Amino acid sequence: MKPSIPDYILSLKPYVPGKPLEELEREYGIDNAIKLASNENPLGPSPRAANVIREAVGKLNRYPDGGGYELIQCIAEKFNIDPNTIVLGNGSDDIIALLSTALLRAGDEVILPQPSFLFYEISVQSAGAIPVWVPLKAHTIDLDGVIQKVTQHTRIVFLNIPHNPTGSIVSKTDFEQFMAAIPPEIVVVIDEAYIEFVRDPNCVHSFDYLNTGRLVVGMRTFSKAYGLAGLRIGYGVMPSVISDPLNRVRQPFNVNSLAQVAAVAALSDDDFLKKSVDLVHEELDFMYASLSQRGIEYIPSQANFLLIRVHQNADEIFNRLLKQGIIVRSMTSYGYPAYIRVNAGLHEENVRFLEALDDVL
Ligand SMILES: Cc1ncc(COP(=O)(O)O)c(C=O)c1O
Repeated sequence: MKPSIPDYILSLKPYVPGKPLEELEREYGIDNAIKLASNENPLGPSPRAANVIREAVGKLNRYPDGGGYELIQCIAEKFNIDPNTIVLGNGSDDIIALLSTALLRAGDEVILPQPSFLFYEISVQSAGAIPVWVPLKAHTIDLDGVIQKVTQHTRIVFLNIPHNPTGSIVSKTDFEQFMAAIPPEIVVVIDEAYIEFVRDPNCVHSFDYLNTGRLVVGMRTFSKAYGLAGLRIGYGVMPSVISDPLNRVRQPFNVNSLAQVAAVAALSDDDFLKKSVDLVHEELDFMYASLSQRGIEYIPSQANFLLIRVHQNADEIFNRLLKQGIIVRSMTSYGYPAYIRVNAGLHEENVRFLEALDDVL
């Protein structure tokens, strides 16, 4: 017997994560591989977070605080926002899934820039809703294109600022024009997974729209600038008309206790945050200069990664780099078949990557 499974589940394309380092080392029998594929923090976790985790291990027999009280208070204080607007997630992936579960019915439409972070599509389709794609314009989210795709069935628009995989942003001015044109009942989600790395002062920030009466949701994560990707902790900030249904559908203990204490500590680790952001800026500038010297095209980025044009099949370049012990991301599945995405690593990792790129090109 087979269970009856909806077509929209059977047609899902499973998320393909960046290849794990251990897997590559096992397959190729090497021990010095480097990973520049998942936009992780190359410096490791925030040291303050690592310390409190050691202390908290002794309390693992207890359930976590299901309300995440202390972490929510810390986020609220740090960003001067109302604690009632914050929903914690098992990574910001969890917030994406909660938004889909709580807000979508079968047949609803959700507008997504194309390409986008791949999990939006998975989560929208899992709810039986329909992704409606708007291609990027000049590697940037086409806000006018989004407006044109709005119908009476549109429930959510996902904007990813900075955008993954291009690293482009949306200016405050353009966002405000967009908000003036979009119907007020549509939920506008701004995924700010890379916001800490932005250098452009004109970039829009979701928290500025919390008290405007509009349905704007900001999403942030501890996986990137704070170096806690393995712990799975992120959050959304939203009006209570959205946080209330999200809190009804989320698992009672969706954020584990180590993640909660680590995130509290990481939020106060200003030295680590600065070191992480400075490293990304220095190393992206180094990569830009090195690629320009070689006559290799790239897309400048406001995030911690960049797209590099390899002028050949990106899957092929990905495979050749793998053989040199370097994991990057082929952008074929994102619709950029001549590009690879590479995040800023440690300086020596970036040097090794550039040497390997010379070799494989
Ligand atoms: C744009 C974007 N949103 C969300 C996520 C998920 O982050 P988290 O680790 O918080 O689930 C990622 C991870 O790469 C991302 O690139």
